[in-house]
Amino acid sequence: MEDLQKRFEGFIKPGSREALLLRQIHPERLPHHVAIIMDGNGRWALRRQKPRVVGHRAGAKAARRIVETAARLGIPILTLYAFSTENWKRPQEEIEALMSLLREFLRKEVETLKRHDIRLRVIGRWEGLDAAIREELYRAMAETATNTRMQLVVALNYSGRAELVDAFRRLYGEAREQQLPPEAITEALIARYLYTADLPDPDLLIRTSGEMRVSNFLLWQIAYTELYVTETLWPDFRPAHFFQALIDYQRRERRYGGLGAAALP
Ligand code: IPE
Ligand code: IPE
Ligand code: MG
Repeated sequence: MEDLQKRFEGFIKPGSREALLLRQIHPERLPHHVAIIMDGNGRWALRRQKPRVVGHRAGAKAARRIVETAARLGIPILTLYAFSTENWKRPQEEIEALMSLLREFLRKEVETLKRHDIRLRVIGRWEGLDAAIREELYRAMAETATNTRMQLVVALNYSGRAELVDAFRRLYGEAREQQLPPEAITEALIARYLYTADLPDPDLLIRTSGEMRVSNFLLWQIAYTELYVTETLWPDFRPAHFFQALIDYQRRERRYGGLGAAALP
């Protein structure tokens, strides 16, 4: 197994706190899929007496760094919660700022994604976004479609319940057409109708800025996901915080309702 330290050459200073934390991560037991609720941009700005938009800009920067960190670590799937269907309730000005940051990200970062062999995917009712943004999303997804090192899944105009509604509508249509008996409806079948049909469930869900709630993010998929909530606000979330979450995750015992290793003879 290639040394993790090596993969971070030029990205992390040797001897720094980050480098020390990195040493504590077992590369062979990394989560396969990490999902992040990037929260706290507004509070970050408020603390600095700056407009919320400034927090979102700093948040976008943090996201770029974390994407690169996940790719270097060798995490195969990273899902980021970027904009929920509920976020349309925010002031128009803030929504516009978020959309323009998204476009900026797409314009600037597609090259980075290509360089790091990262595939971009979008989940959510993203047909509900502006035509110009949809266009750029299509392009970014097409241009990175064959990349294999990591999948970056961005949840846009996403709601866990809306996802289930969409899934059940399609499932109902097809079940009727094919005259499926009720027993044909299984967990595996339902999962096939979700946006995440071909993705494994997240192993680890990180939420920043301390809120102990899921906020309508990946509801079905997190049935057995390990949760990690940190007080750190998203714009302050650095590779070191990410490493800390991974170290914490690796110390846990996943039981899936069973007895776990402690009960073994
Ligand atoms: C998360 O930060 C970013 C998005 C919702 C896009 P918030 O804007 O929710 O920040 P807080 O929760 O108000 O601090
Ligand atoms: C979490 O969402 C952050 C996102 C990236 C969407 P919110 O900030 O909208 O969630 P609540 O309102 O605190 O539950
Ligand atoms: Mg919030």
